[in-house]
Amino acid sequence: MENNSIFLEKDWWKKAVIYQIYPRSFQDSNGDGIGDIPGILRRLDYLADLGIDAIWLSPVYQSPQDDNGYDISDYEKIDPMFGTMEDMDQLIAKAKEKNIRIIMDLVLNHTSDEHTWFLEAKKSRDNPYHDYYIWRDGEPGKMPNEMRAVFGGPAWEWVPEVGQYYLHQFTVKQPDLNWENPKVRQELYKMINWWIDKGVGGFRLDTVDLFGKKPDEMITHNGPLLHDYLKEMSRESYGRKPLITVGEAWGADVENAKLYSNPDGSELSMVFQFEAMLLDEQGGKEKWDLSPLPFRQMKDVFNRWQTGLYEKGWNSLFWENHDIPRIISRWGNDKEYREKSAKMLATLLHGMQGTPYIYQGEELGMTNTAYDISEYRDIETLNMYKERKEKGVPENEIMASIHAKSRDNARSPMQWDTSPNAGFTSGIPWMKVNPNYTEINGEAALKDPDSIFHYYQKLIQLRKQYDVFTDGKFEMLLPEDESIFAYKRGHNEGCLTVFCNFYGETVECPMEACNGAQLLISNYSDSDSMTSLRPYEARIYYQ
Ligand code: NOJ
Repeated sequence: MENNSIFLEKDWWKKAVIYQIYPRSFQDSNGDGIGDIPGILRRLDYLADLGIDAIWLSPVYQSPQDDNGYDISDYEKIDPMFGTMEDMDQLIAKAKEKNIRIIMDLVLNHTSDEHTWFLEAKKSRDNPYHDYYIWRDGEPGKMPNEMRAVFGGPAWEWVPEVGQYYLHQFTVKQPDLNWENPKVRQELYKMINWWIDKGVGGFRLDTVDLFGKKPDEMITHNGPLLHDYLKEMSRESYGRKPLITVGEAWGADVENAKLYSNPDGSELSMVFQFEAMLLDEQGGKEKWDLSPLPFRQMKDVFNRWQTGLYEKGWNSLFWENHDIPRIISRWGNDKEYREKSAKMLATLLHGMQGTPYIYQGEELGMTNTAYDISEYRDIETLNMYKERKEKGVPENEIMASIHAKSRDNARSPMQWDTSPNAGFTSGIPWMKVNPNYTEINGEAALKDPDSIFHYYQKLIQLRKQYDVFTDGKFEMLLPEDESIFAYKRGHNEGCLTVFCNFYGETVECPMEACNGAQLLISNYSDSDSMTSLRPYEARIYYQ
C-alpha cells in the first residue's frame, strides 16, 4: 500500500523526479511490435527501483497516429494499440501502490482531424462545432496569410465543403482549436476533470505557449490572452488539487516563465523550456542546420534560468525527451567515454534547482541511431528529408542532420536485454532497435553496481536526502572557464558544490575550498586531486 505519501503536500513535485515514457517504444506485451500499457505495468518494479516519483506518459489516447498520438481523436478513450481503459485504470492504481503518480500528456492546442468536433466542424459554417476551430475565408490557392506549419508547408488547409481554410500549426491532420471560444475551453476543462477524478497525478501540457495564438497578426507563441486562459483553466480544473502541471513552452523566456510557474499556483507548476537546446543550431532557428555547442553561452543560459526563477518560479530540468536527440551523442561522448559522460551530464543537471526529468533509456546511456532513411518513421524527419531533397541538398548532408537531430533518435525501442529486439517485442518492432543493445541494456545495467542506472538511482536518493538539492540558491562558479561547468547551491543547512568537466581532456580546476567536505557522488572511484578534473569527471561536495 501507498505509504504516507508526499503527494498530499501542495508542492510535492518540487522534491520529485519524473520519468518520461514514450509508450510505443517502451515495452510491447502482445507481440504487435508497438509498446503498450500492459508492457508498462510489467516494468513498474524497474521504475520503482530507479526511485522515480511520477511517470509522464506520452499520449495513449485514441488517435490516427499521424504524429504518434499528438493528434487525439478522443480524449476519453485509450487507443487499442496501447490497451484499454481498464489497463489505464490499472496502471494508475498499481503505480500508486508503488508511490508513483501518472502524469497524462494533454494536447490542447489541436485535435486530430478525425475528432468528432472537427468532423462536425467541417460540415458547414453553421454547424455548432464549426467555431471550435480556426477558419478564415479565402479561395483555393489563396491562403489567408503566409503562416507556416512547424513540420513544413503552409499552416492553412482548404476545405471545399465550407469554402474556408482552417489553421493547423502542426500537420494537416492536427487542426488548431479555437481557444477564443469559451465552449471549447469548457469542454477541455470538463475532460481534464474527468481524468483528475480517475486519480492521475497531473498533466504535461503540450505546446502550452500556443493556446493564445492570433493568426491574423501572425502571433503563434505567448499570445495576449494566454495567461488569462491558463488562470481560468487552473481555477476550473487542476488548481483545486495538489497536482503537477508542466507546460511545454518553446517560446518561454525567464520573464514570462515567472507567470507560467508563478509560485502562487495560479497557472502551472513549472515550465519545460528549451533555450539551451536551441544553441547547437545555426542562428538558433533551424534545428537541422548543425552548429557546435557554444559552451560558455550554454552556461549563461542555465545561470539565467537558475537565478531568474529562484523563489519566483520553477524549472524543469531535462536533457532529453521524445523530440530531441540522446544527450550523450549530442553533448557527451557516446564512444570511449559513454559511461563517464552520461554520469557527468546527469550530475550537472540533477544538482540544479528544479524538477528533474529522465527520458526512457537515458538512465541506461542509450545513444542516437544512425539508420538509412527507410528506417525513419517521424513525420517531421520525413517531411524535412523530402523538402531538402527537392531543393537539391546532398543526401549525406541531409542524413548528417537526421543522425544528429531526428526525433527518432530518442524513439528507438527501449533496450531491456540481449534477447532478440532487446526484449522490447517478440514481434517486428515498429522501429528498428539500435544494434548496440547487446552492450547497452537494462539487464546489464542492473547487474553492474557501477552502471549509469545506479548512478541515476543515487542522484535521486541524494535529492530526497538533502533539502539543499531542492532549496539551495544557485551561484555559478568559474563562469569564464571554457570546459568546466561548476556551481554552488547555498542553503542554511549546508552547501553543495558541483564540478563537471564537460570535455574529454584533463583540466585544471581549483577545488581546494572543498578540502574536508563530504564527497556525495562522483563518476570516478578515486577523487584525490583537488586541482584537476579528468575527462568528463564530475563531483558533488557537501559541507
Ligand atoms: C510537442 C510534442 O512534444 C511533439 O512530439 C508534437 O509533435 C507536437 N507538440 C505537436 O503536438
